[in-house]
Amino acid sequence: MPVGTQATVKGLTPDELGALGTQILLCNTYHLYLRPGVSIVEEAGGLHRFMRWSGPILTDSGGFQVLSLTPLRKVTDEGVIFRSHLDGSEHFFTPEKVVDLQERLGPDIAMVLDECPPYPASREEIEKAVKRTSAWAERSRKAWRRKEVTFFGIVQGGVYRDLREKSAEELVALDFPGYAIGGLSVGEPKELTYAVLDWVVPLLPPDKPRYLMGVGTPEDILEGVARGIDMFDCVLPTRLGRHATAFTRRGRINIRRAAYARDFGPLEEGCQCYTCRHYTRAYLHHLFRAEEMLGPRLLTLHNLHFLFRLMERIREAIASGTFHHLYETWLQERGG
Ligand code: GUN
Ligand code: ZN
Repeated sequence: MPVGTQATVKGLTPDELGALGTQILLCNTYHLYLRPGVSIVEEAGGLHRFMRWSGPILTDSGGFQVLSLTPLRKVTDEGVIFRSHLDGSEHFFTPEKVVDLQERLGPDIAMVLDECPPYPASREEIEKAVKRTSAWAERSRKAWRRKEVTFFGIVQGGVYRDLREKSAEELVALDFPGYAIGGLSVGEPKELTYAVLDWVVPLLPPDKPRYLMGVGTPEDILEGVARGIDMFDCVLPTRLGRHATAFTRRGRINIRRAAYARDFGPLEEGCQCYTCRHYTRAYLHHLFRAEEMLGPRLLTLHNLHFLFRLMERIREAIASGTFHHLYETWLQERGG
């Protein structure tokens, strides 16, 4: 899922997203609640109409954004009090309120309010967060009215195996239509990220979608799929693209580097994206050096195409029973 925090994937039109083969977008409740405000989106006829994207949308609950973006906040069993990162105004999110806000925004999939502690956090803090996340999930389940909006539960538990298992079991008992694994990609070593997936995924129902939150390098996606993950979201393809960095089969390249000033090949040989079909590295290098807005747009298009093509190949490989081969050759080409 490309990230469209403010009801826009920065720099791209919905037509362009459609042409890329985007299947679903992520938007953030926290940001849209603060600006423009949920009632304006509601008056517009919901998120799809407001932003003119008719494909699926998932909204994150704000549990993560409140903790990562706001200067001051206080988490209690009742909910989370925080100050806006925009104007310092004070707000209170409860699980029920966040269900209501998302039902009014009108995405296809919404997330329950969770508590995602920073890394590293003590066992006691994680234990508390797991308890709250389960209690909040139960309250969210009860507050859920509009069945057109599908709520997913979120598993927390840091890097503690027993807490992850407890969180997964409690969430599964609430019978959500899908499950996310949160609290990862917050600075922990990769081996621990993958270990958490090895512990949690086997506890999730095999017939329901599993969503790994905030994870999205090509390597992490392959490692996630290898462990049973179905959905990912990450700002990386769009954020890196805006900052002159392109994904290629051989790793990331920064197009601002002087080495590309006279490089008249495409970003990536053989890439069928709009950018690679039309433009040279030398031209993209020039756009970034001249600070032209087309540069970030073109690299965003390429990076999203790159990840969607990877996902497409993953789906084909799973269908034909060759996923293991794809996984091995991809990681080998990258030098392990
Ligand atoms: N995005 C990335 N990680 C998380 C998480 O743990 N919780 C939520 N709600 N969103 C996330
Ligand atoms: Zn390309």
